[in-house]
Amino acid sequence: MNQQSLTLHTPAKLNLFLEILGKRDDGYHELETLMVTVNRYDTIRFREDDSGRTHLSCYHANGMQDFALATTDNLVYCAAELLRKHVQYQHGVAIELVKRIPAEAGLAGGSSDAAATLVGLNKLWQLNLSQEELTMIANQLGSDIAFFLAANNAAICTGRGELIEPVQIPSQYHFVIVKPTGGLATKAVYQHYQLTTHKQSVKPLLDALQQSKPAQIAQHLYNALQQPAEELSEEVSTLKQIFSKEPCLGNLMSGSGTAYFGICPSSRVARSLAARFRHQGYEQVFITRSLAG
Ligand code: C5P
Repeated sequence: MNQQSLTLHTPAKLNLFLEILGKRDDGYHELETLMVTVNRYDTIRFREDDSGRTHLSCYHANGMQDFALATTDNLVYCAAELLRKHVQYQHGVAIELVKRIPAEAGLAGGSSDAAATLVGLNKLWQLNLSQEELTMIANQLGSDIAFFLAANNAAICTGRGELIEPVQIPSQYHFVIVKPTGGLATKAVYQHYQLTTHKQSVKPLLDALQQSKPAQIAQHLYNALQQPAEELSEEVSTLKQIFSKEPCLGNLMSGSGTAYFGICPSSRVARSLAARFRHQGYEQVFITRSLAG
């Protein structure tokens, strides 16, 4: 068999807005969230083989292999196996995943990897599955995966997060993202959230983004999961305090945390802010920008 291979780079996302509209009968929460992709990537290499199974190996950016990540619970493995079962594919695949997006951070690294796995194997295995069919498989794996499949760099996502309305954002923004040592499980943060009656709308933020008005963007950043995350993780509240004293346009926790970000007025400000966080001992500090829409 002629071995084919394919390499994909999978971006992280940030939630610039996240409101919870209610609790659903299926246990999930009804959301309205605005997500953007940023230029922090994992890398996935797929190589077709004759083994008849999925073999996953995971590495950190420094080349160290991480056996704990390469389990059958990894979303990459789950995506490959679900796709194989769906089309009853006979051959195997060896997948190498290089992780640069931290886990339990609210940056959706695992979801982005899973989306890339569906897209990559659809191509490598020449399955010609439609976007709708891939989305249907993605939704069986998690709520954030459809966003990355939609191949748009910004979207308003509703439902449990899987209903995607792409939006155009004309300007790019500089973000400093800090991931503290501890992480939070998405489920735990949602469980700790208390429903409120007063709801924020995404509209003012969307208008500010579409009109490229940084001050208004900062004013309308919002994440309903931040309060429960702060209650569960002191590191999140500490980051909020530090960011509030820095010359950012605005700051917020992403998704269910624990990664926290500030929007900076320029790449120069972002670099000096990142340097200050590193100086304070934070090891996972990323200078990123949003990807063009
Ligand atoms: O969909 P995903 O597997 O990423 O979700 C992880 C957990 O987060 C779910 O099991 C659920 O407890 C919670 N969740 C939720 N409402 C959402 C998305 C996730 O309650 N819209």
